[in-house]
Amino acid sequence: MEPIRSERRGPVRVITLCRPKALNALDASTLKALLAAAAEIREDPDARALVLTGEGRAFAAGADIAEMKDHGVADAEAFSRLGHAAFSALEALPIPSIAAVNGFALGGGCELACACDWIYASTRARFGQPEVNLGLIPGFGGTSRLARRVGMAWAKELVLGGEPIDAETALRIGLANRLFEPDALVDAAIATGETIATKGPVAVAAAKRILLEGQDADVRVAHELERSAFGVVAGSEDAREGKAAFLERRDPKFSGR
Ligand code: CAA
Repeated sequence: MEPIRSERRGPVRVITLCRPKALNALDASTLKALLAAAAEIREDPDARALVLTGEGRAFAAGADIAEMKDHGVADAEAFSRLGHAAFSALEALPIPSIAAVNGFALGGGCELACACDWIYASTRARFGQPEVNLGLIPGFGGTSRLARRVGMAWAKELVLGGEPIDAETALRIGLANRLFEPDALVDAAIATGETIATKGPVAVAAAKRILLEGQDADVRVAHELERSAFGVVAGSEDAREGKAAFLERRDPKFSGR
C-alpha cells in the first residue's frame, strides 16, 4: 500500500496521506513519496494548484515515533534532512499549495501544513508541536516556518509548551486561513485551486517565488526582487493576453508563457 495517493482533479493536484491506521504518521517512505510527488508535480504542465490532505481522522500526527524509536544521532539527523528536503520541495513548487487539515496536524504534521502556502482547516482540526512531550524538538522546519506564520510568541508557546490548540484558535492566530465543516473542507480547497487555475500561471509562479524569497531578504533587496520580476512578468505572453482580454471585455486565455 502506497503511503500517499496523488490524483488529478482537473488543474488541481491532490495529495492524500493514506496511512490512517497510524494517523498518517510520517515515516521515511512517506517522506520519500512526498519528495517524488513534488518532483513529478513540478514537471506537470497542467498543474495549477496543489491540495494536500489526510485520510481518516488525522492530517498527520507527526513523524513516525515507532520508526524513530531506535534512532541515534546520525539516523535522526538523516531523518530530519529527508523531511526538510521533502517539505522544501513542496514549498518551492511554482504553484500554490493548500493544506486541507482534516484532523490532527501534530509535530511533523503541523510542519507539513506550514510548508504549504496556506491552511484551510476542518472545525475538528487540532494543531500542535508536541515534540517536547517526547523529549524531542521539531525536526521538519517547525521552528522557522511556524514562527513566520504565527509570530514568535505563539510559536514559542506551541513548541516550548507542547500543548495542542483547536481549530478556532488556529484561525485566530493566523495559522489557518479559514475553517470549514469537515465534509466541505477538501472540496473548498479544490474549488480555490480551480479559481487559481483561471489566473495567469506565469504571474502566480513569480508572485509566489518573490513572496518566499522576499521574506528572507532585506526590504530593499525584496523591493528589487519585485521590480525585476514585475518587468519579466509584464513581458510575458500571459500579461499581454490578460491586459488585452480586460480591454476587450472577454475572459483571458492564458498559455503559461
Ligand atoms: N507515530 C507513530 N504512530 C502514531 C503516531 C506517530 N506520531 N501518532 C499516532 N500513532 C498511532 C498510534 O500508535 C496508534 O497505533 P496503534 O493503533 O497501532 O496502537 C494509532 O496511531 C492511533 O493513535 P492513538 O491510539 O494514540 O489515537 P488517540 O485518538 O488516542 O490519540 C493522538 C491521537 C493525540 C494524535 C495521539 O496518537 C498522539 O499523541 N500521537 C503522537 C503525536 C506526536 O507526539 N507527534 C509528534 C511526533 S515527533 C515529530 O513529529 C518530530 C518532528 O518534527 C520530526
